[in-house]
Amino acid sequence: MRLFDRAVVRVLPAVPRGVVRRVAAPYIAGETLEDARRVVKQLNAAGICATVDVLGEDVSRPEEAEAIARAYHDALAAIEAERLDANVSIKLTGFGLELDKALCRSLVEALVEDAATRGIFVRIDMEDSSTTDDTLDLYRALRAAGRDNVGVVLQAALRRTLDDIATLADLRPSVRLCKGIYVEPASLAFTDYETVRANYVKALRALTATASHVAIATHDEWLIEQSLRALPPSYEFQMLLGVREERATQLVREGHTLRVYVPFGEHWYRYSLRRLQENPAMAGTIARASVGRLLGRSQ
Ligand code: FDA
Repeated sequence: MRLFDRAVVRVLPAVPRGVVRRVAAPYIAGETLEDARRVVKQLNAAGICATVDVLGEDVSRPEEAEAIARAYHDALAAIEAERLDANVSIKLTGFGLELDKALCRSLVEALVEDAATRGIFVRIDMEDSSTTDDTLDLYRALRAAGRDNVGVVLQAALRRTLDDIATLADLRPSVRLCKGIYVEPASLAFTDYETVRANYVKALRALTATASHVAIATHDEWLIEQSLRALPPSYEFQMLLGVREERATQLVREGHTLRVYVPFGEHWYRYSLRRLQENPAMAGTIARASVGRLLGRSQ
């Protein structure tokens, strides 16, 4: 992560929640499944497919994990009933990974089974490095149980990612490749912007040889151009709701499959902070305001 971004990460929690809510609104479909359904329909009408995310992570009680799982079952039912061109993305901490691994596993197994009966794919998002092993282990267990409608995410920022690609190769996995949003120690992750980019390109090459499908998840123009020069046999581009929408439309016009990540739900705060941290315009505004405040200037 760039030095500048680290400074923004530090000050973001001091920004009032109301302000976060307002400025992060374009990144979130809304609070209800109906909001997500409306946004997915709009995307589908523009030739763009979606992956629906029920917001919620780091739950502290089993009932919260169960509520998130229920919301996902409802989302699957809506996707099927309305024939939406969409799948779902889940976060294992939202399913209780850090609370009770057995509960998490059984909730995820039930969801993947429900999705399979409806012909819908489930992507397991990758969270911070403390969850990488558990996430890949659960993915392997699901595949060993015969579930093929499930895929994982790998992060170019992590030093271990090329090894993980090699270890997963026997599964011919469906992988979303992203840079990785979590702040990690330098012992585990590349922290320099150009090194992360270079590792993304290496990982993409390795996945081209081993993965059954690669989701190229980035808004970085340089990486999009690099990917277009040597696309994997089966691929799609992925972007986040509210980011680089014109570029997304252009990729669709050029004939590429483009999937947009559509988060919805009441637990919008942490996701919003991550998006604001990555918005170059927002990062500058927030950092300047905070430095001004520290220096006692009124802004
Ligand atoms: P980068 O951050 O350099 O952005 C490139 C350009 O895109 C910026 O210069 C700016 O123009 C624009 N941009 C990016 N973010 C913006 C924002 N919020 N607002 C306005 N403009 C913005 N991470 C993870 O750790 N685990 C995961 O499971 C996922 N899943 C995931 C799914 C999908 C579909 C996407 C697109 C991304 C993720 N990520 C993720 C996030 C990912 O790791 C990464 O943090 C972001 O995609 C930002 O990295 P870029 O590659 O876009 O480059």
